[in-house]
Amino acid sequence: MKDMKMLEARNISKRFGGLMALEDVNISVAQGEIVGLIGANGAGKTTLFNVISGTYAPTSGRILFKGREITGMRPHEICRRGLVRTFQVVKPFRNMTVLRNVMAGKLFGKDRVKNLEYAREEALKILEFVGLAQKAHVLARGLGLADHKRLELARSLAADPELLLLDEALAGLTPTETVEAMEIVRKIHEKLQITILMVEHVMKAVTGLCSRIVVLHYGRKIAEGTPKEIAENPEVVEAYLGESIEA
Ligand SMILES: Nc1ncnc2c1ncn2[C@@H]1O[C@H](COP(=O)(O)OP(=O)(O)OP(=O)(O)O)[C@@H](O)[C@H]1O
Ligand SMILES: [Mg+2]
Repeated sequence: MKDMKMLEARNISKRFGGLMALEDVNISVAQGEIVGLIGANGAGKTTLFNVISGTYAPTSGRILFKGREITGMRPHEICRRGLVRTFQVVKPFRNMTVLRNVMAGKLFGKDRVKNLEYAREEALKILEFVGLAQKAHVLARGLGLADHKRLELARSLAADPELLLLDEALAGLTPTETVEAMEIVRKIHEKLQITILMVEHVMKAVTGLCSRIVVLHYGRKIAEGTPKEIAENPEVVEAYLGESIEA
């Protein structure tokens, strides 16, 4: 259904002791969109992902996924419904091969594949898709950063997402690696038709990929709009973009 709200987070607040990490945040993502979530370090971006994906319960507010309430559900239940997130700090099974890591995603993900051979074939297809097939039999701990990021994308794809939350999938990459990783994200969106909400500091990537951007500042949503509107928003420039606006 076009224009169906895939995700709606309503009036989300999250308190850690005396700190309001999120305050009355509203964010929605329509089916087929690719939305960027930006903000300075500590703005609450990862916390919002943790709340949406069920890692933390919100202090208040509700989360709806495909029109159904998921507030308070366990992360694996939310994942199995098709809402999958990647981690800013990637944590693969370091002593397993790349292939086994992705197979694990298939075996425990949404459709809980039982057949090992099928899981293996599907995992290889995904590795091909993210450009990591030639390293299928390397131990995850032997990968460099760019390949770790690819593996994290592959693992998330193995869970068969309808909505993918990407937490800094490009952070720390060289300019060439960034362009390659952007292409993978674009392919995930266009070929696999997966809806994406992505946290990213690399503005070139956010403006290049996203049709809409949401800005968090000290736990509050301060702006929302097209990349052009965001780049021209004085409050956003003041709070976050600063002099990097031309970069
Ligand atoms: N589990 C936690 N316990 C206590 N405070 C936390 C916890 N998780 C996050 N915070 C605090 O909440 C605020 C928001 O953190 P969060 O990690 O969401 O920011 P972020 O926008 O993802 O930043 P970055 O760009 O550095 O990844 C920070 O002040 C952080 O210290
Ligand atoms: Mg973060």
